Amino acid sequence: MSAADPIGVFDSGVGGLSVLHEIRRALPGEDLLYVADSAHAPYGDKSQQFIEARSIAITEFLVSRNAKAIVVACNTATGAAITTLRSRFSMPIIAMEPAVKPAVANTRSGVIGVLATSRTLASDNFVKLFARYGTDVEILGQACPGLVEQVEAGDLSGDKTRLLLEQYVIPLLEQKADTIVLGCTHYPFLAPLIQNIAGPGVAVIDSAAAVARQLRRRLEVAGLLADAAKAGGESFWTSGSLGKAQSLVSELWQAEVAVCALPSLRKRLAMTESDSVVGAGHALDIFGNN
Ligand code: DGL
Repeated sequence: MSAADPIGVFDSGVGGLSVLHEIRRALPGEDLLYVADSAHAPYGDKSQQFIEARSIAITEFLVSRNAKAIVVACNTATGAAITTLRSRFSMPIIAMEPAVKPAVANTRSGVIGVLATSRTLASDNFVKLFARYGTDVEILGQACPGLVEQVEAGDLSGDKTRLLLEQYVIPLLEQKADTIVLGCTHYPFLAPLIQNIAGPGVAVIDSAAAVARQLRRRLEVAGLLADAAKAGGESFWTSGSLGKAQSLVSELWQAEVAVCALPSLRKRLAMTESDSVVGAGHALDIFGNN
C-alpha cells in the first residue's frame, strides 16, 4: 500500500457523491474510486446480512483496485456493516455519523430533527448518539421512506419530492426544531429544497465535510497522503443501469464522467453470506465522540 494508491468510496447508490465532493475539496491530489450500488438501492429495506455481504464484496472490489483507505459513504451501511468491515480489512475505514454533535452545539430552541432511513435511526450508532445528546436537547428522528428513490431517479426538485419532504420536515418545524441533520448521504442533494421548506431560520447540516477531514487525518497519521501538487482523478462504477448512471452521476458530480459497470460480485457474495458476521456496533469517531 502506498500514498499514490487511490481511496475507495461506496454507497448504496449516488448519495455518497455528496461525500465525494467534500473529499475532493479536502484532498485535491488523491485518486478516488466510487462505487454506486444502485441496483440494490435503497439499502434501508434490505436485511443486515445482505448489506454486510454487499459492503464486504464492494470493499474487496475496491481493494482489488488497490484502495489504500475505504470511505463507507452511507449511513445505513455504516450502521449495518462497519464493525464487520473493520474486523476484516486492515486499512483505514472511515464511516458516516449523523451530525448530531454539531447540531446540538448549534440549536437555540433545544430541538433538533434528524432525517435518516429507518434502519439508520434504529442502528446502534444512532441509539448511542441519542443516549449521549438526548438529555441536553430534544432529538426528533424522522424516517424518510421514498427519498433515496427520488434522488436515485434524479428528481431533486419535482412535486413528488417536495410533497414527501414537506411530510417529513413540517412536523419537525411544528415541534420547534431549528436545526435539521441530514443523516443520509442522499439528502444533501435535496438540501436546497429542504432549506426552502424549512425557511432561513433553520440550519440544515450534514457530516460530509467532517468525514473528509477525518479521512485526511487518518491518511496523514498512516503516512498515506498523496502528493497534493498533482490533481487527482475519479473513476466511477455502478451496479445499476449504465445509461441512467452516466447522466445522473455526471449531473450530481457537475462534470461529464464515464461510469463503468461494476463486475458481478455474486460469487463473492455467496461466500460472504455463508460466513457473514451478524451484529454491528459502531465506533463513533467523526466528530470526536469516542
Ligand atoms: N445513502 C444511504 C445512507 O446514507 C442511503 C440508504 C439507503 O440506500 O437506504 O443511508
